[in-house]
Amino acid sequence: MSRLGSEGEDVIGKWSEDKLDLLAKYLKAYSVIMNERKKSWLTAYYYIDAFAGSVRPRAKEDEERYIDGSPLRALQTEPRFDAYWFVDVNPQRVERVNKLREDFPEQVIQTYQGNCNDVLCNEIIPQIPYSSKKRAFVFLDPYGLQVDWETVRELANTRTCDIFVNFSVMGVTRLLPREQAPDPSFVDQISKVMGNTEWINQIYRESPVTQLDLFGNLPEPVVRRDTIQAEWLASLYTEQLKSLFDCVSRPVLMRNSTNSVLYALCLASHNPTAIKITNQIFNRYEHLKGLR
Ligand SMILES: C[S@@+](CC[C@H](N)C(=O)[O-])C[C@H]1O[C@@H](n2cnc3c(N)ncnc32)[C@H](O)[C@@H]1O
Repeated sequence: MSRLGSEGEDVIGKWSEDKLDLLAKYLKAYSVIMNERKKSWLTAYYYIDAFAGSVRPRAKEDEERYIDGSPLRALQTEPRFDAYWFVDVNPQRVERVNKLREDFPEQVIQTYQGNCNDVLCNEIIPQIPYSSKKRAFVFLDPYGLQVDWETVRELANTRTCDIFVNFSVMGVTRLLPREQAPDPSFVDQISKVMGNTEWINQIYRESPVTQLDLFGNLPEPVVRRDTIQAEWLASLYTEQLKSLFDCVSRPVLMRNSTNSVLYALCLASHNPTAIKITNQIFNRYEHLKGLR
């Protein structure tokens, strides 16, 4: 999770930089392949950033240092995409993206201000039907639980979009208390994002109460859950993605400085090569970090 700097920009930790580096590596590979396909059947390919962000966030460890955010990573990718579509709910952030036209005058930049679920489903997806022979890479990088499962389903149904998702593991676990059953409204919130919450019933158990209370009555049983393993939760999400996409990468876990898992990054596509490349990039990253 990021906080805001003095100019309303995000202040991000090392793990967010790692995420951006992984994004840039994949974008490069994707763009090389798509550019080749333009020599045969492909008519155009786009970069779609559903959570464009503050463009140049600052580093948490050194607030003098600015980092290239996802819009810049995409615009710097060679070969170039045919167009770049950026969405953000925050008007100031959309303004920052609009200013990038000055630095990248030859690239086609389109911006949308609004909730990405509405913008994707109502304005973007209708522009890239399967019959168009166009393809798109969609980056879904929310702070928390902002990507609706129904939006993911619609993206998958196009069969033209690959999605690179930063799934908020912490956003889910923080809605599930350890010592009592979760609030039904929280379960609905999780369902809206994960498309399935059957697993929640399985992780909560009634602890048997054997001791009578002061009045000699047997108290209500206590409902508790065990620790939720981040790997397990991330793989539940990737398994769920497999119900919509032909192929899904393994998730790579993004941890903060105290080693807590914040997010899980994964790619879902209809193309097995995309997954092979992503898994290679993830494996190399984890190897360099000493995680593998
Ligand atoms: C984690 S930041 C994105 C960082 C950016 N992708 C990067 O890597 O540089 C999340 C952004 O999503 C925006 N946002 C939050 N909810 C949104 C929604 N429902 N639809 C579109 N944008 C949203 C916020 O204003 C914020 O700029």
